[in-house]
Amino acid sequence: MSAVTACAFAPKLASPRFSNGSSGSRGGRRGASTVSLRSVVRVRAADESNAEPERAPGPSTNQMLVFVPPHPLINHWLAIARNVQTPPPIFRSTLGELGRLLIYEAARDWLPTFSAEVQGPVGLAKVEMVDPSQPIAVVPVLRAGLVLLEEANTVLPATNTYHLGFVRDEETLEAKMYLNKLPEKFAEGQRVLISDPMLATGGTIVQAIDECVARGADVKNIRIVCVVTCPPALTILSDKYPGLRVYAAMIDEELNDQGYIVPGLGDAGDRAFGTE
Ligand code: URA
Repeated sequence: MSAVTACAFAPKLASPRFSNGSSGSRGGRRGASTVSLRSVVRVRAADESNAEPERAPGPSTNQMLVFVPPHPLINHWLAIARNVQTPPPIFRSTLGELGRLLIYEAARDWLPTFSAEVQGPVGLAKVEMVDPSQPIAVVPVLRAGLVLLEEANTVLPATNTYHLGFVRDEETLEAKMYLNKLPEKFAEGQRVLISDPMLATGGTIVQAIDECVARGADVKNIRIVCVVTCPPALTILSDKYPGLRVYAAMIDEELNDQGYIVPGLGDAGDRAFGTE
C-alpha cells in the first residue's frame, strides 16, 4: 500500500484523519472502459504466482480501516458539495468527481494486475496492467450512490455494475430494499466496491454489505466509498465487518435526531436529483 497510511476505526475514536501522500488531478475523462490486450505480451498475472505475496507491515487485516485522503482536490469538491447554494446539476457532478478521486484511492493497492511487455516506438518496455478478466463489481446504492459511481468507469478499466435500491422510512429511519440486481453468486475472490455517499446510522450500508456477503463476497474484498460518514455508522461497521475498508472525504462529528449527518450534505439524493 504505497504512500497511504490508514487508521483502524475504534468505536471510541472520534473523527480520525489519515494521511496519504498520493496525488490526483481534475481534467477531462481519462482511462477507458475496456483494455485491449492485442499489443501486449502477457507475462504473469499478479495473483498467478505460487510464491507467497510480500506483505507490507501494517494494521491487522482483522480491523476495519478508514481512509480519509487529505487531498486538496477532495477538500475542494467537498466544500462545493457542502454549500447549500450549490444547484443540483453542480452538486451531482461534484459527487461524481469526489467518487472518481475516492475510487482512485480505493483502487491503489487493490486492482488485480499483470506484468507484460509492449513494443514502444523506441524499444520494448516492461509494463504493469490492470487485468480486465477480473472486473470490479461496482454496487451503487440508489439513489445517491449512483451519482458517486457515475464516473467509476473513467477510473476503473473493467467493471460490472449491480444496482441496489433502498428507500428510507422517514419515521423509523430504517432502510427498505426495493431493488436488488446483485448476481446470485459472486465468484470466489470477487472484489466489490459499494458506494453510498452518506454513511449516517449505518442501516443502509449494513444491509448492502449483508446482501453482498450472502452472495459469497468476502468482507475483506469489499471496499466502501462514501463522501461523509460519522462515528455511529463507523462503530457499527467496525463491529460487524472486521477487515472492511472505508474511503471517505470526511468524517463528521454527529447525527441529528432526524438521522442527518451534521454538518453533512443534507439529503444527498434530493440535492443530486433536484427533488427537495
Ligand atoms: N442520507 C443523506 O442523504 N444525508 C444524511 O445526512 C444522512 C443520510
